[in-house]
Amino acid sequence: MAKEMLPIVDKPLIQYAVSEAMNAGLVQQAFVTGRTKRSIEDHFDISYELENEIKGSVKEDQLKEIREIRDNCIFTYTRQKQMKGLGHAILTGEPMIGDEAFGVILADDLCITDGDSVMKQMAGLYKQFRCSIVAIEEVPQEETSKYGVIAGEQFQDNLFKITNMVEKPDPKDAPSNMAIIGRYILTPDIFEYIRNTKPGSNGEVQITDALLAQAKNGCVLAYRFKGKRFDCGSLHGYVEATNYCYKKFHDPSE
Ligand code: G1P
Repeated sequence: MAKEMLPIVDKPLIQYAVSEAMNAGLVQQAFVTGRTKRSIEDHFDISYELENEIKGSVKEDQLKEIREIRDNCIFTYTRQKQMKGLGHAILTGEPMIGDEAFGVILADDLCITDGDSVMKQMAGLYKQFRCSIVAIEEVPQEETSKYGVIAGEQFQDNLFKITNMVEKPDPKDAPSNMAIIGRYILTPDIFEYIRNTKPGSNGEVQITDALLAQAKNGCVLAYRFKGKRFDCGSLHGYVEATNYCYKKFHDPSE
């Protein structure tokens, strides 16, 4: 099944991502999916059976969030025919985006915050700086090979101007321990940078490489976000996220 459809307590990962974007005011949502991910489209469509069975019952309340999403967001979908990396996936989405800045959320990185969502925090920064922004977090040095890693000059609390970025470096070669997590705001010239990016780490077209070219020609910022991130692509992160969300949102004794 699509990993984005794995539930964290009572809703799939992809719904957390959609709500986060909606919270940031990003209501036109474009999905780059693949052959095995049809269930994502169905999830955000109306389920007549469910609506009818639940209508007027005490359980109707449970449909509130999904209805709010349906009423406020516009969805478009396309498929990535080959798995050629995140840069390639983003380029596949170009016809749905056009010539404007956009946010990218990788749903398997689940971000939980107390106030504004991570994407909303970043949208605020975009309004101020008008350039591409990546979200970062400090990770143990031995884990740098799982992430894109940046080097940068700090110029504000939690904000860095990127001077270097490397995709999945060996801990000994990593320029820092500041890892990119699955939240980006990208300006539309990124598409041209991606087109000019040769396959890199793992033979895939990496957004990290395209962003480095953009940073060298102008400015790309790295933002140390406020909140907690769970790598739900790993068993440990998935279980940790489940326990955390249950405690935070559902545990009656909390
Ligand atoms: C992708 C990016 C990587 C980033 C990571 C965040 O890697 O290529 O730079 O750090 O997402 O989750 P992936 O996890 O898809 O291998």
